[in-house]
Amino acid sequence: MSDIRDDVRAGFNELYGYEPAGMWSAPGRVNLIGEHTDYNEGFVLPFAINRRTVIALGLREDGIARVASSFADEVVEITISELSPETLNGWAAYPLGVAWALGQRGADLATVPGFDIFIDSDVPVGAGLSSSAAIESAVAMALNDVWRLRLDRPTLAAVGQLAENKVVGAPTGIMDQSASLLGQKDSAVFLDCRSLDSEIVDLGFGAAELVLLIMDTGVTHSHATGGYAERRASCELGARMLEVESLRDVTVDDLPRARNILDDTTFRRVRHVVTENQRVLDTVRALREQGPAAIGDLLDASHLSMRNDFEISIPELDLAVETAQANGAIGARMTGGGFGGSAIALIHRDDLSRLQVAIDGAFAEHGFGQPDTFVVVPAHGASRES
Ligand code: GLA
Repeated sequence: MSDIRDDVRAGFNELYGYEPAGMWSAPGRVNLIGEHTDYNEGFVLPFAINRRTVIALGLREDGIARVASSFADEVVEITISELSPETLNGWAAYPLGVAWALGQRGADLATVPGFDIFIDSDVPVGAGLSSSAAIESAVAMALNDVWRLRLDRPTLAAVGQLAENKVVGAPTGIMDQSASLLGQKDSAVFLDCRSLDSEIVDLGFGAAELVLLIMDTGVTHSHATGGYAERRASCELGARMLEVESLRDVTVDDLPRARNILDDTTFRRVRHVVTENQRVLDTVRALREQGPAAIGDLLDASHLSMRNDFEISIPELDLAVETAQANGAIGARMTGGGFGGSAIALIHRDDLSRLQVAIDGAFAEHGFGQPDTFVVVPAHGASRES
């Protein structure tokens, strides 16, 4: 972390030729359980991870915004009053989309000071760990401070989601930005995506001698195209046909009736969301009453539901999950939006290296690309660094 901070300060200085006014950081996230429930006004249980995006920001007096990063050669420059979903594209849509979205939430983009931003990150891109929400949350924190907007963290999460939805063009929910902004060390964020009330739930991995392994398949995906939006549309169709405001209003007891009303595909999409909401509640209860060793079956069941009912898994994710389950994991599931990205395994620390070797072997045997496996630790949310 301190390395990235040093790199960001140096990168800022070299590019813009002056000292930044401050530095901010925000983490990526892992969703422990509660997948495709956020945009159905359901429950999620993500945690912030010890991989962060760091930004340095300096103020300008001319109403111009410039953004640059260690992962793109170009410096993108725009007049802030001209920011709009139409004028932004590429990677700059994430940081500058947030500036635009703050305008939608009360910042006066005609009068706010301009800024220069430099960004670096060790959140892997395309791994399903919300590298984009990390950028959005860090920029939202920074601009909230320097523009003196006094918005609270849930509002900043909504700002990041607005940028993602309207500027990046991905119809995603509120989970990722909420995890990045509200996360706390060793804990998960239990979020009700209808009321936006959240509670911090102790994960207790350390005391139980458990670790959380990321198994990144290397298969990249985009939620701005394809399957993600299709799944969301199926859920909305299911809610309309069941005559409820959202699938949050359907319970496990309602499923037999839903089966009579819905076509088979829509029913299975609905069944995933409804049972997944229940699994989040069950996971929170198990964590509080018994600790993390008790949540394995719920993680496994979540994966099966995504594979069979929601149909968002891919062979690489299934293989990672099955290999983990066969090599000592307490539980395993794909995490994030699906169609690529990462799976997670909760495993005793003594069994970790055996599992990592097994995953590499299984992927090689199936002719899949080399996966990347690494442990993440539940960490604190977005913060000011200097
Ligand atoms: C992506 C989206 C989230 C959420 C998950 C699926 O990560 O950004 O809003 O919908 O997929 O749970």
